[in-house]
Amino acid sequence: MKVKKLVLPSIIIIVLFAGLFLLSNRSTNPSKKAVSSRATSFDKMQYSIDAPGSIWWIVNKKRTLPDGYVPQNLSVPKVQLRLDTTAEQMKIRSDITAPVEAMFTAAREKNISLLFASGYRSESYQRQLYNSYVAKDGQAAADRYSAKPGTSEHQTGLAFDVCEAGTNCDLEISFGATKAGKWIAQNASKFGFIVRYQKGKESITGYQYEPWHLRYVGTSLASELQKKNQTMEEMFGL
Ligand code: DAL
Ligand code: ZN
Repeated sequence: MKVKKLVLPSIIIIVLFAGLFLLSNRSTNPSKKAVSSRATSFDKMQYSIDAPGSIWWIVNKKRTLPDGYVPQNLSVPKVQLRLDTTAEQMKIRSDITAPVEAMFTAAREKNISLLFASGYRSESYQRQLYNSYVAKDGQAAADRYSAKPGTSEHQTGLAFDVCEAGTNCDLEISFGATKAGKWIAQNASKFGFIVRYQKGKESITGYQYEPWHLRYVGTSLASELQKKNQTMEEMFGL
């Protein structure tokens, strides 16, 4: 009889404790959720996409460089170069020589010998190049693969073209299907670089597929773009 009398209060106590436990858990859950969603959602405000010199600066046909823009602190990375160290094109912004060098070293470990083909270009050199392409292929064709002076990422010091040492380094679309081109597409983001002009995105980027043209954006944005298969323009809704 005594035992029976104790059963009901015991059940009530257990139910009360269970209820309290669930309530206290609920009150912590929303913050837990917020933390996990913060961890998975990408912060698009880490850097400016508008400020000249920002590593997320978006330069394209519509977003031109300020008149006379020249990046500060350019230097020659310690990697295999296509031209002599005195050539202006063999330079890149000093703050990204280390990621360039690390990427070339990592490729070398996979028996891929990369060549730094063309980095920083002054506006006058870009004009010279663009005009030569227009003369060769006509303006409509040239506009699909060469930036008008004042609109090239090469002028920011944050971009460079890469090819494989020992090849003619013609920068052709077929590079994307080579071992080196595939390695670049797969691994450049680990060093903060993106293949800026992706296949099938010409209407968004303004340029044909360029598997050799790398742009530094830092590892966080590079891996996010790779994961989502997006261009900078898509990521930032331009
Ligand atoms: N080839 C790229 C679009 C440039 O000229 O900057
Ligand atoms: Zn390029």
